[in-house]
Amino acid sequence: MAHLATLSQLHVSLAAFAGSDTPLRRSAFKVQNISFGGKSWAPALPLDLKSRNAGLTKRLSVCMSVQQASRSKVAVSPIELEDSKEPPLNTYKPKEPYTATIVSVERIVGPNAPGETCHIVIDHGGNVPYWEGQSYGVIPPGENPKKPGNPHNVRLYSIASTRYGDSFDGKTTSLCVRRAVYYDPETGKEDPSKNGVCSNFLCNSKSGDKVQITGPSGKIMLLPENDPNATHIMIATGTGVAPYRGYLRRMFMEAVPKYKFGGLAWLFLGVANNDSLLYDDEFAKYLQDYPDHFRYDKALSREQKNKSGGKMYVQDKIEEYSDEIFKLLDDGAHIYFCGLKGMMPGIQDTLKKVADQRGEKWDEKLSQLKKNKQWHVEVY
Ligand SMILES: Cc1cc2nc3c(=O)[nH]c(=O)nc-3n(C[C@H](O)[C@H](O)[C@H](O)COP(=O)(O)OP(=O)(O)OC[C@H]3O[C@@H](n4cnc5c(N)ncnc54)[C@H](O)[C@@H]3O)c2cc1C
Ligand SMILES: *[C@@H]1O[C@H](CO)[C@@H](O)[C@H](O)[C@H]1NC(C)=O
Ligand SMILES: *[C@@H]1O[C@H](CO)[C@@H](O)[C@H](O)[C@H]1NC(C)=O
Ligand SMILES: *[C@@H]1O[C@H](CO)[C@@H](O)[C@H](O)[C@H]1NC(C)=O
Ligand SMILES: *[C@@H]1O[C@H](CO)[C@@H](O)[C@H](O)[C@H]1NC(C)=O
Repeated sequence: MAHLATLSQLHVSLAAFAGSDTPLRRSAFKVQNISFGGKSWAPALPLDLKSRNAGLTKRLSVCMSVQQASRSKVAVSPIELEDSKEPPLNTYKPKEPYTATIVSVERIVGPNAPGETCHIVIDHGGNVPYWEGQSYGVIPPGENPKKPGNPHNVRLYSIASTRYGDSFDGKTTSLCVRRAVYYDPETGKEDPSKNGVCSNFLCNSKSGDKVQITGPSGKIMLLPENDPNATHIMIATGTGVAPYRGYLRRMFMEAVPKYKFGGLAWLFLGVANNDSLLYDDEFAKYLQDYPDHFRYDKALSREQKNKSGGKMYVQDKIEEYSDEIFKLLDDGAHIYFCGLKGMMPGIQDTLKKVADQRGEKWDEKLSQLKKNKQWHVEVY
């Protein structure tokens, strides 16, 4: 009860999540240390919201409901992270990376997902701040086989948390990393000698391990915050969802004094099957709490069929809603694309097809969207 006494004095609430009846399966917010308004709260019990603390979470939500917290958002600190006019850029460079510490590594896909994707929380001690939509570089340990005696090249990873991190204290960064595994095309067998160096290093790492990071980098995926009521159409395949998880936590999970989102965020997520969905619990929660501000459409290529019986890809979902999407773009919506490079040709073909059907010239429309800075692409 000591914890509850402390908690009941807080002006914030975890009830948005704690109060949910659905267990947070494969939850990505295993909160370790939470800091409320500068006071750090390190629970004696690990605050693992997804399972064994059902009793505690119920009691938490009772305490919290007394608080009448607005929409049960989580307080964040330090709010000075909002002060700067420009995003931080390349604070740490490849020649002098920052040595950070792994907090946790968690597999976040179900057993029937092809491949493995991990949610990795890294403690940077508040020394490598970033904004939503930016990336970190990671230098895996060991020698670069192409340049003996030298470190590996930097690999970039989109940041999947807000600037406050999953512990809401501005000290951590989360990445969403898919293990790159090599299968011999002849035998179909895995060849570990050719597996991806950095993704395997990250997914194999353990709490307390050190990791060399660089960055933050990237400006193309920054959330345009001059209009808090803007429309954001977010298209992702697989780990491409990472920056959107950050945006959506900022919009719907965190109580950020200077950012009150009143627009529409529409996420299209393409993965192989239901077990491959990433952060689905978080997104489902936003749908429940903010139905007027959030839309979420999934394309499960191996589980769903498109209109002509082919595999369901994100572009098929885009086509399904193309009238609305085009209208939103005409009204100034931002559209983002993130994920594997291979997603773009199919999407561009679909957008062109839709434009043709509408009697519009896609090339002209596209250059206008780019000129207006409505078009944001980060594919790899
Ligand atoms: C802006 C940006 C953002 C990104 N964001 C993310 C993200 O959020 N999440 C994410 O998972 N990735 C992201 N990436 C990709 C990431 O940077 C890495 O490219 C990816 O993790 C693979 O790196 P690796 O070191 O594991 O593989 P590498 O060791 O670099 O190998 C690359 C590929 O080659 C294969 N390979 C290795 N040796 C051989 C061989 N001899 N013959 C044939 N094939 C071989 C590997 O299996 C692997 O598939 C991003 C990239 C960019 C540019
Ligand atoms: C949590 O806080 C405790 C005590 O302040 C500290 O020892 C520990 O390193 C912190 N863990 C993380 C992940 O920040
Ligand atoms: C955003 O919309 C809300 C109503 O949803 C309105 O009160 C507010 O003034 C709008 N803000 C801006 C900057 O347009
Ligand atoms: C898909 O996965 C979710 C959890 O992410 C689960 O609740 C649901 O029952 C699954 N649906 C199907 C059709 O398998
Ligand atoms: C559906 O899938 C087929 C086969 O991949 C593809 O040719 C077609 O363009 C897709 N979309 C629609 C709407 O049929």
